[in-house]
Amino acid sequence: MTNPMTLTVAERIEDRGNIIRLRLTGEALPPVTAGAHLDLCLPELDLWRQYSLCSDPAQGGCYEIGVLKDPASRGGSEAVHRLAVPGASFTVEGPRNHFPLEETAETTVLFGGGIGITPMIAMAHRLHALGRDFTLHYCTRSEGVTAFLDLLRDAPFADRVAFHFDDGAAAQKLDLARDLPAPGAATHLYVCGPQGFMDWVINAAEAAGHATANVHREYFSADVDVTGDTFEVEAAVSGVTVTVGPEDTIAKALARAGVKIEVKCEEGVCGTCVTDVIEGGIDHRDQFLTGEEREEGEMICACCSRASGPKLVLDI
Ligand code: FES
Repeated sequence: MTNPMTLTVAERIEDRGNIIRLRLTGEALPPVTAGAHLDLCLPELDLWRQYSLCSDPAQGGCYEIGVLKDPASRGGSEAVHRLAVPGASFTVEGPRNHFPLEETAETTVLFGGGIGITPMIAMAHRLHALGRDFTLHYCTRSEGVTAFLDLLRDAPFADRVAFHFDDGAAAQKLDLARDLPAPGAATHLYVCGPQGFMDWVINAAEAAGHATANVHREYFSADVDVTGDTFEVEAAVSGVTVTVGPEDTIAKALARAGVKIEVKCEEGVCGTCVTDVIEGGIDHRDQFLTGEEREEGEMICACCSRASGPKLVLDI
């Protein structure tokens, strides 16, 4: 785990589509790689929220993020919009990167839907600096709600960016039959955006023959159903066994018994709560673990996933 640091809002830009862009500064900021995110603490809500860095990874001295005010969220984005005024400070952990760029790829295609554009901007900067062949597809509902529009039109890689507006002419809409590249071992795709958008792109890419390992994905929130049948969890190291009820989660049930598993997103997307499993079947509900990791059955996201049988034994 990285140490928490205090970052200060140096600049706030009100962009289109209910998105604010924040430039954050602090002491001795660790270097970043394209695709990295920050964990931002919101103590008043007892929440951590993850925000992808959209700044050029080569740029030192500050981090930039974009935050959509999402009325469907649990209040995290609303709090950031309210609190992130110039001069305000936040406790932040990271940067962490669960969405790294395969820098040796011969062809890279980036798909950003809505606020999912943020990690793609950092990746585009990096690919441009490396002189790689890439395209950035940016899908939004309408030009009028498209944040980062001016930034991307003025970017040094502007000729690589294709905008797709849902309410625009048919010819400019994202057409996966046309816009997906041919599959190949050195061709990599990156997808970030709302769940429906991601499912659409990922399913089309895999159906077109792209290897799952070459279709990289970053979920920034997920509608996760954490409910299910009652089961037992034994925390082997702590010597504690708890019952996880139909509406309960492993992390919450263990916390009540004094066994703490750190959680952040509580939606199965950030990986903070991943815990080793010693015994028992897993009903994976997260979006974080890879297909291979699920099959191995040795790790669980304790914030949302459940047992598929009567009992799980965890290495905690
Ligand atoms: S807390 Fe984020 S995946 Fe569990």
